[in-house]
Parts: sequence; C-alpha cells; structure tokens
Amino acid sequence: MKIQNITCIGAGYVGGPTMSVIADRCPHIRVTVVDMNAERIAAWNSDHIPIFEPGLDAVVKRARGENLFFSTDIDAAIKSADCIFMSVNTPTKTEGEGAGRAADLKYIIACAEQIARSAQDHTIVVEKSTLPVRTAEKIKEILAKNSKQSFDVLSNPEFLAEGTAIKDLENPDRVLIGGENPEAIAALFEVYAQWVAKEKIITTNVWSAEMAKLAANAMLAQRVSSINSLSAFCEATEADIDEVAKVLGSDSRIGSKFLKAGIGFGGSCFKKDILNLVYLCEHHGLPEVAAYWEQVLVMNDWQKKRIAQLVIKKLGGQVKGKKIAVLGFAFKKDTNDTREAPAILVCETLLQAGAEVVVFDPKVSAQKVQADLSYLSTHQSHLKSANTVNDACVGVDAVIVLTEWDQFKMIDWASVATQTKKSAWIFDARNCTNHAAIRAAGLNLWVVGK
Ligand code: UDX
Ligand code: ADP
Repeated sequence: MKIQNITCIGAGYVGGPTMSVIADRCPHIRVTVVDMNAERIAAWNSDHIPIFEPGLDAVVKRARGENLFFSTDIDAAIKSADCIFMSVNTPTKTEGEGAGRAADLKYIIACAEQIARSAQDHTIVVEKSTLPVRTAEKIKEILAKNSKQSFDVLSNPEFLAEGTAIKDLENPDRVLIGGENPEAIAALFEVYAQWVAKEKIITTNVWSAEMAKLAANAMLAQRVSSINSLSAFCEATEADIDEVAKVLGSDSRIGSKFLKAGIGFGGSCFKKDILNLVYLCEHHGLPEVAAYWEQVLVMNDWQKKRIAQLVIKKLGGQVKGKKIAVLGFAFKKDTNDTREAPAILVCETLLQAGAEVVVFDPKVSAQKVQADLSYLSTHQSHLKSANTVNDACVGVDAVIVLTEWDQFKMIDWASVATQTKKSAWIFDARNCTNHAAIRAAGLNLWVVGK
C-alpha cells in the first residue's frame, strides 16, 4: 500500500490547512480538497482564501496548481483517490437522542455513503474530524454495506489550534494514527514521515486514537476553566492571577501552557468535544465521570456571564443608553473564526440590557458580527462595527477587550482617552493591554484575575 492520491472531503478550518501542508511537504502526492460548498471552493482557488491563518497563504500559493487542487467534483476526487480524509463538520446534535450533547454524525454518514458509491479500488479512509469513540466501526459498516470495494478505516485526529495551524502542522508535538491493519497504518505513517520525526508519530488502536483526541481537548479546556475559577478567587482576595500562574507553571509537573486567565474558552472544539464526552460517559453508565467533565463547561459559562454582569455592575448597575466598545470578536487572536466566541454572549448581555455596542476586530467583518448576533433581532440597530480602535471608542462609557490581539498591546490609550467619555472604564478580560498607559490616561481599569 502506497499513498499517491489523497482526497480530502471538507475544505474547512481543518481540511484546508492540513491538506495544504501535506501537499507542500509531499510533492509526489496529488492532493485534492473537495467541498459541496462551491463558494468556499471558489475562494480557495482565488487570491482571497476563505480562512485567515498566519502562514497559510504562502503554503497554498506554493502548492496550488502543482499538486494541490480544490474542487467541487466530489465523485471524481473519490474515484481517483487511494486515501480519503474525512474533514467534514461534526456539530452537536440539535434534535433526537443525545440532542444538545452528542455529536451529529449526519455529515460523516453522508460522506461515508458517497465514498462507498464512488470508490473504485481499495481505499484508505481516514477520520480527521473529531468523532465519538467507535465511529470508525459505523463508517466501516456503511462502507461494507454500500460497496464491493475493500477499505481500511484509520483515525488520524488533528491537533492543530487555530491561529497557529501552520506551525502546528509543520512541527507537531505528535501525529496520532489509530487503526487495525498495520499496512494501512504504515502507508499513512509514510506520508507524515516526509517531514515529521518518526518518534513523534504515535500509532494506537483505532478506539484509543478517537478517545485520545476527545481527552486532549477536555484536559486543555479543563486547565482554562481551572485558571479562570482561580481568577475569580484572585479578584476576591489580594492575589494576582499572573503571579499565581507563574508559580504554577514553573512546576515542571504542571507546565506553563494553557494557564492564561480570560473571558473563557471558545472555538469549535472544546465545548462540542466535552459535551460529546459527557454524553458518552453517561451512555456507558459513568454518571460521576460525566458530571466531572461537565463542570468544565459550567465554569466556562459562569466566567463569561460573571464578566458580562461585572461590566454592568461597574457602570452603575445599568447600561441602558450607554455606549460600550468591544475590542476583539474572534474566539482567540490570529483567527477570523467566531464559533462559540465569548464575545457573542457578552454582546448579547449588553444589548439586552439596553446598551449600544460598537465592535472592532482586525479580522472579523461587520457582516459576520451582525450574522452571529442576528438571533437578537430587536437589538440589531444598537449593534455597530468600527474600522479602528479609536473609531470604536468615540463617546463610549466603557471599552471591553475580549480577544488578545497583539495590536491591543500597543493601543495608544492617551489618544483613546480623547475619544471616550471622561473617566470611562476599560475592562481587560484577557489581561493583554498596557495597564500603566490606561491608568496614566486617567481611565478606570478592571483586569481579569487582579
Ligand atoms: C483546540 C486545541 O488546542 C487543538 O489541539 C484542537 O485540535 C482544536 O481545539 P483551538 O480551539 O483552535 O484548538 O484553540 P486553543 O488555542 O486551544 O484555544 C481555545 C480557547 O481557549 C480559546 O478561546 C482561547 O482563548 C482559550 N484559552 C486558551 C484561554 O483562555 N487560556 C489559555 O491559556 C489557553
Ligand atoms: P472544521 O472546523 O471541522 O474544518 P468547517 O465547518 O470549517 O469544520 O468545515 C467543514 C466543511 O465540510 C464545510 O465546508 C462543509 O461544506 C463540508 N462538508 C460537510 N459535509 C460534506 C459532504 N458530504 N461533502 C462535501 N463537503 C462536505
């Protein structure tokens, strides 16, 4: 078994960058990324690729048209492939058994059915999307039922984080390949071994690989909830969360990463994967384990609500008619992704309390902000966007920093203070701004965990 033709179904945040790096690092492999969303594919083929991710543009430009192709012809791409990655979305179910918690596998199932219909030879099918444990079994069943071809199903979960995707793909901590057939595992191993040190490629059985991905996200999210819970404790005492995190992080058993207190985690993975883990634990008769992990989400929601309410409290207990600037709408810096962004809940709370909200984000468009809050139809006229920090801050009673964009470190607060109302409040919910400059400009300051 040798992989020469890869097809990836799903040209999203995972499929697009992952395949671009594989194509870039393996010039001998033809990589085709397909999606049913024609607009998305057209964007991948244009000068304005649909995802903002540092370094991605350059990788796409190098490989596109050489051995990297973006297409809507899904059947043709399946036919020509010896290895197919499934990188379709797996949202949380909105109805039926497990609604609100279990992962919705409808896109995966549709994908497997289409592979079964069109595959022409032995094909390795790779799960790339995060999936519930034992999904590979289901995929195998669908393939066997609908096709005469033979298949190997591997689990190769993606660990890239948005904003650092290219770095994470080019120099991963590890690559995980779960499977049964050693030949198929070896074939995929060979692809990654083109640029990843062999000792970093971990092979496991398929169930461990599926489980490890859910567990890794749950444990990362748990660290964020742990530090955020302590941020509230610091605010109630004279402790400082930065100092506490420094002490914790210098213990090599704990490690320093993922100890940054903030507004709470967002993104497409953490909440979805924990809900899925909770659902599966309950399904397997482990209610105590389910309750343990669910608390990570409870704490995350609490942190977002607590900070939104704190803003209202500091502004005199009500914000009706007040103007508030929100700096940062993406769920973290260096991405234009707003899925599960804490800014959505904060804006909702303020708009519902009668405030006028002006959003500035360097990479999230005004249309996207409107679309994410469109469910609040009655408050839409009180939601505006600005093109610069200073424009967002004109006449405001308060500024809330919700994403840790690097440019917010360098804000000229003396200049901002000439725009805001006198003695406006600055709420730094990411602990990422120049606090001395804010105080020197005569503005009031609140910082998470201080
Ligand atoms: C995550 C995992 O890191 C990645 O391995 C997996 O493949 C997908 O899910 P992502 O959601 O893109 O990646 O970003 P990540 O850097 O993990 O941040 C998630 C959220 O936690 C963000 O909202 C971020 O701001 C927040 N966070 C992270 C903190 O608040 N504090 C921290 O110390 C770290
Ligand atoms: P992720 O963050 O996991 O990459 P995205 O939502 O960004 O998720 O991308 C998933 C992509 O998969 C979407 O562009 C969607 O159109 C595509 N997709 C879902 N199901 C199918 C399918 N059966 N065939 C082709 N593309 C699909």
